Amino acid sequence: MPIPDFSTTPLSDLISLAGRRAVVTGAAKGIGAGIARRLAEAGASVLVGDIDETGAASVAEGLNAAFGGRHSHCRLDVADTSTLAAAADWVVSNWGGLEIWVNNAGIFPSTGPAMDVTDDFIDRMLTVNVRGSFAAAREAARRMDAGGVIVNLVSTTGFHAAPGISAYVTSKHAVVGLTKSLALEFASRNIRVVGVAPTVVDTPGVRDQMEPLAAAGLDIEKTMAGNLLGRAGVPDDIARVVLFAASDLAAFVTGSTIPADAGSLAGR
Ligand SMILES: NC(=O)c1ccc[n+]([C@@H]2O[C@H](COP(=O)([O-])OP(=O)(O)OC[C@H]3O[C@@H](n4cnc5c(N)ncnc54)[C@H](O)[C@@H]3O)[C@@H](O)[C@H]2O)c1
Repeated sequence: MPIPDFSTTPLSDLISLAGRRAVVTGAAKGIGAGIARRLAEAGASVLVGDIDETGAASVAEGLNAAFGGRHSHCRLDVADTSTLAAAADWVVSNWGGLEIWVNNAGIFPSTGPAMDVTDDFIDRMLTVNVRGSFAAAREAARRMDAGGVIVNLVSTTGFHAAPGISAYVTSKHAVVGLTKSLALEFASRNIRVVGVAPTVVDTPGVRDQMEPLAAAGLDIEKTMAGNLLGRAGVPDDIARVVLFAASDLAAFVTGSTIPADAGSLAGR
């Protein structure tokens, strides 16, 4: 399908998501909540999906209060494909179509030494981070009749290794490949697939991981700011890149994973 020429389209139209219908997974807090906010601000209707239904409801309520519109929420578990299909069906039935799906939900418990990682641990990590993104993208693409965009949250550890998190690193490298493969297969359906790879961002999930290590001497604030810009990332730093990827500003971008890394890859 030919890519339209946007060269005379006003910038405000290129970034606008008015009339588009979006699902963001894992959006009850952290980066996902930040993404839901920017997509809603840009005019999309957003379904906030999470295993934490109460948190998801509260984010959707906040979007409705801040931006009006018709944002909603659902309980969704990316490890249970039936809930992904149900969320996509809900959007199509209630809002008439689906154009944007953001695979944000992910888990990152530290693995410990690779020598000691159990099969159950590997299965859980790959089920949530890889199968969850794959199955969700498939369910979304099946319903994107007028084309669309799928954004996968990767990580800078989709490009490099780090000690003690081998299962996570493996899962995020897989999502880089998934992004390329789906972009290749979905291009003929006018669906772009784009990865966004954050460095460390200050979120509840990251705090949960780091706080137990503080007792053993980890300087959390210094670790979070360990990038070329010298400050911790916040969810909105990533949400703005996801907004770019989801909008027509990125109409010529597919199959790539965009680092949102504060130079941390350059500095390695
Ligand atoms: N925070 C970072 O430093 C960082 C860096 C690189 C990549 N990422 C990626 O960004 C994404 C979001 O990270 P975060 O730091 O905001 O996480 P977080 O733990 O703060 O929030 C994750 C959200 O996902 C939800 N969730 C977890 N498992 C789920 C499931 N099975 N189904 C549906 N929802 C589920 C949680 O309830 C929570 O609301 C993840 O994919 C993560 O790998 C984060």
